[in-house]
Amino acid sequence: MKTKADTLILFGATGDLSKRMLLPSLCALDAEDLLRDDLKIIGTARSELSDSEFRDMAREAIETYLPEHRRGSMAEFLGKLSYSQLDVTTPEGYAALAEKAGLKDGNDHQVAIFLSTAPSLFEPTIKGLADHGLTADNSRICLEKPLGTDLASSQAINDAVASEFSEDRIFRIDHYLGKETVQNLIALRFANVLFEPLWNAQHIDHVQITVGETVGLEGRADFYENAGALRDMVQNHMLQLLALVAMEPPTDFNPTCVRDEKVKVLRALRPVTSDETVTGQYRGGASDGEIVPGYDEELGRESNVETFVAIKSHIDNWRWNGVPFYLRTGKRMPERVTEIIVQFRDVPHSIFPGAKLCPNRLVIGIQPEENVTLSMMAKVPGIEHEGMTLRELPLNIAMDDAFTGKHKRIAYERLLLDLIGGDQTLFVRRDEVEAQWNWIDDIRATWAKDDKKVKTYPAGSWGPSAAIALAERDGVSWHE
Ligand code: BG6
Repeated sequence: MKTKADTLILFGATGDLSKRMLLPSLCALDAEDLLRDDLKIIGTARSELSDSEFRDMAREAIETYLPEHRRGSMAEFLGKLSYSQLDVTTPEGYAALAEKAGLKDGNDHQVAIFLSTAPSLFEPTIKGLADHGLTADNSRICLEKPLGTDLASSQAINDAVASEFSEDRIFRIDHYLGKETVQNLIALRFANVLFEPLWNAQHIDHVQITVGETVGLEGRADFYENAGALRDMVQNHMLQLLALVAMEPPTDFNPTCVRDEKVKVLRALRPVTSDETVTGQYRGGASDGEIVPGYDEELGRESNVETFVAIKSHIDNWRWNGVPFYLRTGKRMPERVTEIIVQFRDVPHSIFPGAKLCPNRLVIGIQPEENVTLSMMAKVPGIEHEGMTLRELPLNIAMDDAFTGKHKRIAYERLLLDLIGGDQTLFVRRDEVEAQWNWIDDIRATWAKDDKKVKTYPAGSWGPSAAIALAERDGVSWHE
């Protein structure tokens, strides 16, 4: 599906995601003339709002979350917005929505529907859409996470959506795929001849993926208690990063080829044993220069839900045989950082007796800094009596320097543009989501079987000491 949508319907348009990400992203795209002039954006939610009240809400959200220099002529963007009140669980409201979307006038409109509502509302929404002619071939649907809490619930959601939309009209969001450096990872691997010959078990010792956040529960206790770090971050974002690092070269940069290669990696993930995972939960401490309470204090009771998880994983295929992929993510870490470390092996033989040779390391910084650094050994300038002095030096490909003038984008900008344009390459296919859940469910079953208890860690630290031990047992240190 490559036809461009002329109508975008946002369900949950008054919600947090819409205010923080979707409306600001759309406004930024419009400011750069990336949206067609006649695009209609229809917000829907339960609140009673007139078009102009919705526009006022949108204006406020944009002024709060989008830097001024990216807003362009807001009036023009706000003019594209309208609102249709709707309770997705009752049939009333859908007819008015269909009319607002112009579906009654017999024109061949192309409609993109974005559901940023609770997954429990997906099924009634799809039924309502179907009953009012909004699921025909001219419409596509975009779903926000969480897509289930395990494989079975994810399959139920996927089945409900598939009953009305063919897979080529379903766009599942993983907002990490919209991040600039995540896409750059694909460019780095497949637009250069340099890395690919070395990108295998023969030359790579291990890979680390860290997603550290300084934030805590952020008032999401209900959601988080049913998720935990494993399901909230690893099941989706981290496994997508892993898949992009580990996949075979796709034959083309198109949705089928890229996703075919990712899913092979996800299916090749070896089930992990309980001692290959560490779970943690933060206690009070200092984070971002502030004294913060522990998870149990924020929640008001004890809980065994992990706010941190570290995993040693393996991909059972030829390329990655014996190469561990260490994953860790946590709330209330010392810093907000998402990075991928590709640690190369030692040189096979050193001709520099006495010199400590550090193996090459590729650091792909995804946030907050978007940069790529390759550490290399080099000679320290100077004349010495014997031999030469060597030092590890970083080769920086800092994105800010390399591409000055390009501003940091919200990940949703790319994804909304692709949804409207009908390009699924950066969206997750059903078989990927299900392979991800399969692996995650297995880990959770191991935890349940072993009655695994979270270890505590002070807010502002890199998780429980057992996480350090998990890597150090193999002679590996987490990159910090
Ligand atoms: C979301 C998680 O998917 O990703 C949140 O539900 C997390 O818990 C967020 O904070 C992190 O996204 P980003 O883009 O800030 O790294």
